[in-house]
Amino acid sequence: MRRLRSNGYIRGLLSEVSLSCDDFIYPIFVREGIKKKKPIKGLPGQFHYSLNDLDEILERCESLKIPAVLLFGVPKRKDSAGSSAYDKNGIVQRAIRQIKESSNLPVFSDVCLCQYTSHGHCGLLSDGAIDNDKTLDLLARAALSHARAGANFVCPSAMMDGQVASIREALDSNSLKDTGIMSYSAKFASSFYSPFREAVLSSLKGDRSTYQLDFHSGSQALKEIELDIKEGADIVMVKPALPYLDIISQASKNFDTPLAAYQVSGEYALLKSGILDKQALYESLIAIKRAGANIIISYGAIEVMEGLDDYRH
Ligand code: PBG
Repeated sequence: MRRLRSNGYIRGLLSEVSLSCDDFIYPIFVREGIKKKKPIKGLPGQFHYSLNDLDEILERCESLKIPAVLLFGVPKRKDSAGSSAYDKNGIVQRAIRQIKESSNLPVFSDVCLCQYTSHGHCGLLSDGAIDNDKTLDLLARAALSHARAGANFVCPSAMMDGQVASIREALDSNSLKDTGIMSYSAKFASSFYSPFREAVLSSLKGDRSTYQLDFHSGSQALKEIELDIKEGADIVMVKPALPYLDIISQASKNFDTPLAAYQVSGEYALLKSGILDKQALYESLIAIKRAGANIIISYGAIEVMEGLDDYRH
């Protein structure tokens, strides 16, 4: 076997997986009420952007030819109905309009209530429980407001049953047939989101185990993906990525729909903690690709693409 590993040329010749800028979507946080970008504690090298300095990060993506960004809003005010999630002048809606004025870069936008609710849950609470169907209306309103602002893909991440169908229906009946849906189909109730929750100043108490997937039950992930495809998702997603490579692999074998994997905040933070060397981030992205993801959402996209030559053989 060692003849196949004898030098860098041969290893390159035999390599089966590689990364290119086309594999990535880069996540960006836009924060209301700040004038200048601010580093995010817990996510080394990542920032909260103000509308004033969004251009800087978009230009970096464009110069690398990263084909899309995924926007998250960090609003100034939260309330029990998450109303700034579907406000026409909310921070994400304004950011989308601004980006669309100056750039052709496709915009994907996270559609959820949790950044916008005072209780931090992804849905509406009634009598202490999440009301699935009332939440669907609000998610559809949020998605519609993003699409009207110019989002190319809306990305429901609340794990409510029927969210893709209700968003597809709202888009279609409002002449927004060209807006796509990338669904966070198989999103597990994971500890690996901890740095993200700090990043969006989440006020969550309790957990999301009544709506996000239980990580002991992999087969439900496949069922969720199947349902989302039936409801009209154009791209499906598994999230987190590295601890769920088995799910990514099964999903890629079972479905033809483009498959995204989200290397989430906790994965990125661990890889950047200083314990591991620089190659660990690259290696983990290769593993995600090898498992079968067509698209990787990663905070490390820019860093890895800028330094790609350093990792090769
Ligand atoms: C919103 C949402 C979350 C993430 C993406 N969209 C957080 C959550 O469900 O708690 C996590 C992303 C990350 O950790 O990088 N529902």
